[in-house]
Amino acid sequence: MTINLEIQRFNPEVDSAPYFKTYAVEVEPTDRMLDALMHIKRNIDGSLAFRKSCAHGVCGSDAMVIDGKERLACKTLVRDVAEKAGVTVRIEPARHQQVQRDLMVKQDVFFDNYKKVKPFFIANEEKKPAEREFIQSEAERAEIDDPTKCILCGACYSACPVLDKNPNFIGPAAIVQAARWVFDSRDQGLPARLDVLDQPNGVWACENHFECTRACPREIKVTKLINFTKRAITKYREERGETVNDGQGAQA
Ligand code: SF4
Ligand code: FES
Repeated sequence: MTINLEIQRFNPEVDSAPYFKTYAVEVEPTDRMLDALMHIKRNIDGSLAFRKSCAHGVCGSDAMVIDGKERLACKTLVRDVAEKAGVTVRIEPARHQQVQRDLMVKQDVFFDNYKKVKPFFIANEEKKPAEREFIQSEAERAEIDDPTKCILCGACYSACPVLDKNPNFIGPAAIVQAARWVFDSRDQGLPARLDVLDQPNGVWACENHFECTRACPREIKVTKLINFTKRAITKYREERGETVNDGQGAQA
């Protein structure tokens, strides 16, 4: 069947503003939207720019807004967004990141925020066994199951309504990545990452819209992880007779 893909185009070298261009593409309902984009690039318009790598939902390169929702193009079937021939499907770049070209966005801020949470193992020296490796129970491992699934696609970052009004919010993905270590029994956890998380633009900027959870192609319970992190920070501060740095204290 033939469907129309209405794709946002923008080449900063020649265009003063983004615009939409429509391509009629012959597809099967079981084709992936990435196949349709590849078809356009190979056979219709080689200037179309988008990112992709693994084509199997693993690398996180091709998050974009398809039919108004954040999705991975390689995990979205044509039939998910176009029930019959002649349908027009709009494809736009991910939100909250500057468009580099067409469907490609500049990911600098997103990855800077990721780096800020120290997304690597920091051994808990107090719990470190003297002569052998850390032992982690099944239950302890289960604590970090969900955040280890993150592929850093940025779909949650694009879907988050807080970032519409506060571009300084560190964003849901960075908090998920922090949670992966904060709740790891072998890691130093929260103290090593408090200076980034316990900030008005850290976890406290989250308003529980749940859009991140809805958008995540890995079905990570993003909002829940953010709330667990908020709770862990509150507990940590209370145990020390301190208050959280959510910006409310300064306003009071
Ligand atoms: S939490 Fe989900 S939506 Fe956000 S970056 Fe990770 S995989 Fe993508
Ligand atoms: S191309 Fe790797 S996740 Fe889609």
